[in-house]
Amino acid sequence: MLQTRNPIHDQWSSRLAFIMAAVGSAVGLGNVWKFPYITGENGGGAFVLVYLICIALIGAPIMMAEILIGRRGRQSPINTMRTLAIQEGAHPAWGWLGWMGVMAGFLILSYYSVIAGWSLAYVVKAAGGVFRGADGAATGALFDSFLQSPASLLLWHTLFMLLTVAVVARGVRSGLEQAVTVMMPALFVLLVILVLYAFYEGDFARGVDFLLHPDFSKVFQHCELLDSGEKSCRITGEPILIALGQAFFTLSLGMGAIMVYGSYMPANASIAAATLVIVISDTIAALLAGLAIFPIVFANGLEPASGPGLIFKTLPIAFGAMPGGQLFGTLFFILLVFAAWTSAISLLEPAVAWLVENRGLSRIGATALTGVLAWLLGIGTVLSFNLWSGESFQLFGKTWFGLVDHLSANIMLPLGGFCIAIFAGWVMARESSREELQLGDGVRYRTWRFVIRYVSPALVLLVFLNTVGLL
Ligand code: PHE
Repeated sequence: MLQTRNPIHDQWSSRLAFIMAAVGSAVGLGNVWKFPYITGENGGGAFVLVYLICIALIGAPIMMAEILIGRRGRQSPINTMRTLAIQEGAHPAWGWLGWMGVMAGFLILSYYSVIAGWSLAYVVKAAGGVFRGADGAATGALFDSFLQSPASLLLWHTLFMLLTVAVVARGVRSGLEQAVTVMMPALFVLLVILVLYAFYEGDFARGVDFLLHPDFSKVFQHCELLDSGEKSCRITGEPILIALGQAFFTLSLGMGAIMVYGSYMPANASIAAATLVIVISDTIAALLAGLAIFPIVFANGLEPASGPGLIFKTLPIAFGAMPGGQLFGTLFFILLVFAAWTSAISLLEPAVAWLVENRGLSRIGATALTGVLAWLLGIGTVLSFNLWSGESFQLFGKTWFGLVDHLSANIMLPLGGFCIAIFAGWVMARESSREELQLGDGVRYRTWRFVIRYVSPALVLLVFLNTVGLL
């Protein structure tokens, strides 16, 4: 029986440990850094609505599928997909899905580590009181001049990658579980404090309106801030694809991270209940970040479409002005680094698990190897913000960072998720998924099965076709 397959990896110590680890993977830079800035670039409320629909109709059911596949296979995503495919009478080439996930994980980690490095650098700046009394112009200038130094970006990127490698090398269980249990709740508390600050000191009404009031004329509008400081907007189907990509990115779906965590999940834990907790926590974290940031953006005359620097330009204004801001600011960026850390670990884990299983590498060797590869790729992102930011270095109008982000988050993750839905809904026998989900055969299981077979794949396909311009 599959359930008794002897895994060569550790298992989580409890149900709660799995949930904590998965929340740790889901809540990260995607919520606090990426969600606000892409919402700013894609017009606000209407984009958020599309994103929430993607979370509910595509993200949540696919998360259940990923966890159930992982727990049934109990190996790295590559071997899990292969073994389950054979067992369900399908072609072993499904293992390629695991490979695409490993690739996407590398690409994401390569830039994730650079941005997490910015957060590390901001811990030091906040602690040094650099933000005291700074207005929007000052925090903007501070950030822009920080980006101009490839050497310091590289240093922080290196430091963060070392942190990630250190934990993965020890095995995800020791260290990770305890860290997440303390850090995640603390991050939520700090986000709430920031929202309170934004409520009293920011333009809260306008922030809320921007974030939550859908203006459908903007659903197809994508804006960016040019180097000249001018804003350029164009009409395109891209925001819908970006919302879909973000739903996958923020929930860590489509590349095997949740699958590999699921493979360490105790057999008796409820997959549906765990999914609910993970999805709700993740969504709350993103919305809190948005509620903290946009009122400050508007109160200080900043531009919502400022791009990847948005939180680094806005939050320091709040920390510079609020009582105790030096302490809160330092704490906030420390917690952001932790949130990024617990996500980065899960980006590396699928590749490491495979190397340990198939190549007989030690965990330490496998982690070092994959860490160095992702670190090397990350240098392209470091340079995207300075030496390679010019137009002559761009491809399809995007920098290296823009391209890697687009390819991994907006293309590979949704594609991976689509295949996972097809696998769980069409390739796996009904008995297999039912047994693993332990929901009985009632309305809950039937709804999930209907959604995973028809609704989720159809929606992903629709968004893809729309973006390619076929519809
Ligand atoms: N979910 C993480 C975040 O929101 C990023 C991530 C993506 C982690 C894919 C693992 C896999 O920051």
